[in-house]
Amino acid sequence: MGRAVVREALRRGEEVTLFNRGRSIDPPAGARLVRGDWERLEDLDRLAARGPWDVVVDVAGAVPVVVRNTARALSQAVGRYVFVSTISVYRDWPYQPVDETAAQWDGDPDFDPGTRHWDPDAYGPLKVGGELAIRREFGDSALFIRPHVILGPGEYVGRLPWWLKRVERGGAVLAPAPANRYIQPVDVRDVARFTLDLVTANATGAFNVATPIGRDTYGDLLQACRDATGSTAEFVWVDEAWLAERGVREWTEIPIWRTLPTAWAMNTDKARQAGLVCRPLRETVADTWRWMREGGVPVAHERAAEHGMSAERESELLRVWQDSRRGP
Ligand SMILES: NC(=O)c1ccc[n+]([C@@H]2O[C@H](COP(=O)([O-])OP(=O)(O)OC[C@H]3O[C@@H](n4cnc5c(N)ncnc54)[C@H](OP(=O)(O)O)[C@@H]3O)[C@@H](O)[C@H]2O)c1
Repeated sequence: MGRAVVREALRRGEEVTLFNRGRSIDPPAGARLVRGDWERLEDLDRLAARGPWDVVVDVAGAVPVVVRNTARALSQAVGRYVFVSTISVYRDWPYQPVDETAAQWDGDPDFDPGTRHWDPDAYGPLKVGGELAIRREFGDSALFIRPHVILGPGEYVGRLPWWLKRVERGGAVLAPAPANRYIQPVDVRDVARFTLDLVTANATGAFNVATPIGRDTYGDLLQACRDATGSTAEFVWVDEAWLAERGVREWTEIPIWRTLPTAWAMNTDKARQAGLVCRPLRETVADTWRWMREGGVPVAHERAAEHGMSAERESELLRVWQDSRRGP
């Protein structure tokens, strides 16, 4: 997110200051840099002293107490606080459709979880805590961006990169049926552009961000991977219940695969009315492949190892599936 927001802001001619530890990205030309760790109050104070700014875009705050400290430290130095939050703040997602009014997890704006390791169960409540901490400091002027799954060049989670590499390798590819299952991944560059459009429009409150319900399917995603890579891979669409019975893990082992239709029922009418435009999925896939081919290196991240299925397991599953189709 950070790279996309910074690139888009610079493209618009904004003056940009980056605050980070210097591990993840080389600062782009034209941006001012403040080195520091948001876990350290003295670094946050040093940052605040470099202001003022019109707006801060907190791209990745994930620990309530840290977000609270950041918001507090910057309360006199910035006009507005924008927080990149997530669909995971909604308690009933993926079991219910969600719009911006859907119930959220309980969150504690002062909570310090004690570990900074990724925990999928804690993620949603922690982001709620972050939103609450910002609301406490900035009141109704705060802006919350709640994306569904984000794809695009620079992705470190490894969802689309895994699929692209798998499809490039070719052969028979295990694909989770049905091919016409709707999905809603959004391009990181569209999230960045929309976020900055909202800032310019002085928008406040929360906005869900995803591609429209019913626009793209899982089949479209895999076809776009085949087109982008020039592969002759053949997709073998395997029944989802059959996969579940064999313990195939949704979301991680087969990336971007979620069987509940309500997982792909994020209502984004509010964002669309406010100007969200989502580029075609094919463009996201093609540009991600181009980025990989050009030697694009994702930032190191503990979640990168979570995704994908080994070649051995895939072949074995395909063998059993195809045998079962042949009958006795
Ligand atoms: N991936 C998805 O599908 C998805 C879906 C919905 C929502 N989201 C949300 O989207 C956002 C994704 O953000 P991202 O991970 O892509 O962000 P990112 O661009 O990787 O930005 C993280 C930035 O924070 C800096 N940083 C990390 N720890 C720091 C520290 N202790 N002190 C100072 N700076 C620090 C990093 O730089 P250094 O390492 O150099 O410090 C980096 O520049 C998150 O808010 C996530 O909740 C993601």
